[in-house]
Amino acid sequence: MAINKDYFVIEGLAGARKLRGKISVNGSKNAALPAMAASLLFDNPVTLTNVPAIEDIKRMGELLKSLKTKVSHQGKHSLIIDPRSTKKTAFNEEISKRLRASIVLLGPVLGRFGEASLPHPGGCVIGARPIDLFIEGFDKMGVNFSEKDGLYTFKTRGGKLSGADITFKIVSVTATETFLMAAVLAKGTTVLRNVALEPEVTSVAEWLMRCGAKISGIGTSTLTIEGGELLQAPTLPFPIIPDRIEAGSFLILGAISASRLTIEKCNPEHIIVTIELLREAGLDIETGPDFIKIKPGKENQCRTISIRTHEYPGFPTDLQAPLTVFMTQSCGEGAVFETIFEGRLNYTEILIKMGADLKMWDAHHVTVKGPTKLSGKEVESPDIRAGLAFIIAAIAAEGQSIIRNAYYIDRGYEHIERRLRKIGVNIRRVAG
Ligand code: UD1
Repeated sequence: MAINKDYFVIEGLAGARKLRGKISVNGSKNAALPAMAASLLFDNPVTLTNVPAIEDIKRMGELLKSLKTKVSHQGKHSLIIDPRSTKKTAFNEEISKRLRASIVLLGPVLGRFGEASLPHPGGCVIGARPIDLFIEGFDKMGVNFSEKDGLYTFKTRGGKLSGADITFKIVSVTATETFLMAAVLAKGTTVLRNVALEPEVTSVAEWLMRCGAKISGIGTSTLTIEGGELLQAPTLPFPIIPDRIEAGSFLILGAISASRLTIEKCNPEHIIVTIELLREAGLDIETGPDFIKIKPGKENQCRTISIRTHEYPGFPTDLQAPLTVFMTQSCGEGAVFETIFEGRLNYTEILIKMGADLKMWDAHHVTVKGPTKLSGKEVESPDIRAGLAFIIAAIAAEGQSIIRNAYYIDRGYEHIERRLRKIGVNIRRVAG
């Protein structure tokens, strides 16, 4: 698995609002990943459309192939996944260590084969990211867990998962997805309480239901699933929902640096809290069924806002870093409370180096005074979301910035530089 050493070079706008035009949103990474895993719940090939062509999707494809599942492309954004040849249950270690979402495969693999093994799932370093919810939940479904030399093994006690009543002590996106999928193939009824309500979760649950899974309570905090046999894929493909994090990031970029920007192919309902916050900051935002238009309000200078990250439909942790950049360019003092992950404010050190007036009170709380001039710097992207925030900061800054570790940005955003260039950003990729 070759990882490129590409980097981005950005010439900043020195605070000017010069971007304009239209930018399209791709399919959601966090919805496509569990949908790919869910293909193992089927008896026949499934077709997924609007799948973003990004590194994390490639990794999930490779992971499925390592289990002997057939994965093929039909054009750039469509995948056909044929689960019939799947026979292995040991996840490729190198890939699992890179991709947190590898853990969602546990549900369908355990449901289909009764056993699975994997290393601690990796992904972005944004906190401890434990797997206790998975170990506890699967224990209730009749699965033994063991660990040897860093390798986790899950094995059903009776060869098949049993339905169970599981209450999550923390709302977790991937745990909800994993147990939802596991329950579809379990024996008997499973009740999942305190589940995640993120659109990525509900869109996949609704699709499974359309394909015959007996799921009730979608859109509420309790899901009830009647287990059964492998599902039959319909001839119609499953279109992945638009990426709300991408849409929200473009909106925030527009709020800082655009004279007028239209974000297309998105679902504004999925980021309604972000839209309302930016309106409160003074921006003029118009929404339609699948677009958002943003321009500066009557007062050209935005007022600052404060945010507290929250599970859906609250303000998403994945938009926390871009919104913090927005606060550096807005008037007044605002606070950021990161409530989901404990390592997710570390990137603020870099913003300080770029000139931001930021004070970190603890691992979950920073205050930001603005507006401040940012100056271009050479920085390294620490994770997908902070990486995009650095791009936004570099666009607002004066002078040149170099953003290393482009791979981290490529994990979540398809050809970001091509799309940004179209709206006026001076950005180029340099092959490393
Ligand atoms: C998913 C998203 C990620 C997003 C996050 C929160 C994917 C692939 N990734 O990550 O982009 O930032 O939701 O919206 O969909 N936790 C435990 N024990 C567990 C599992 C989780 O304590 O067994 C904790 C985590 O440390 C975190 C909280 O639960 O504090 C929520 O994390 P979770 O929703 O699981 O995040 P991910 O699903 O990993």
